[in-house]
Amino acid sequence: MPDIFVAKTADFPDGERRIVTDGAREIGVFHWQGELYAYENLCLHQGGPACEGLMMHKVEDVLGPDRTWIGQRFSKDEMHFVCPWHGYEYDVKTGECAADRRLKLKSFTVERRGEDIYVIT
Ligand code: FES
Repeated sequence: MPDIFVAKTADFPDGERRIVTDGAREIGVFHWQGELYAYENLCLHQGGPACEGLMMHKVEDVLGPDRTWIGQRFSKDEMHFVCPWHGYEYDVKTGECAADRRLKLKSFTVERRGEDIYVIT
């Protein structure tokens, strides 16, 4: 299969995403904190368009010194995208399902070639 053109680097700023197609398959490409990530747009739950969902920082518990629960906060380091069908959350840097790290979206290599970005299938 030929490599899939995603975007010109100038047209794909950090924090954005694109959905590209490879025949019948859709691939979500994320630009996050200077890196590029690509995953099949097919949720591991029931096949929803996971890569098209809301992006939000991981919600993490805050524990006191005695391990009692104090509250929650948004992670500064971990960004998730949330499948719009039923809410499965995936780590944008790994494609792992946040609730069960053994589950992982199919990933693809992304390459910068000069001013262009491609997904390698
Ligand atoms: S299909 Fe994605 S959460 Fe159900």
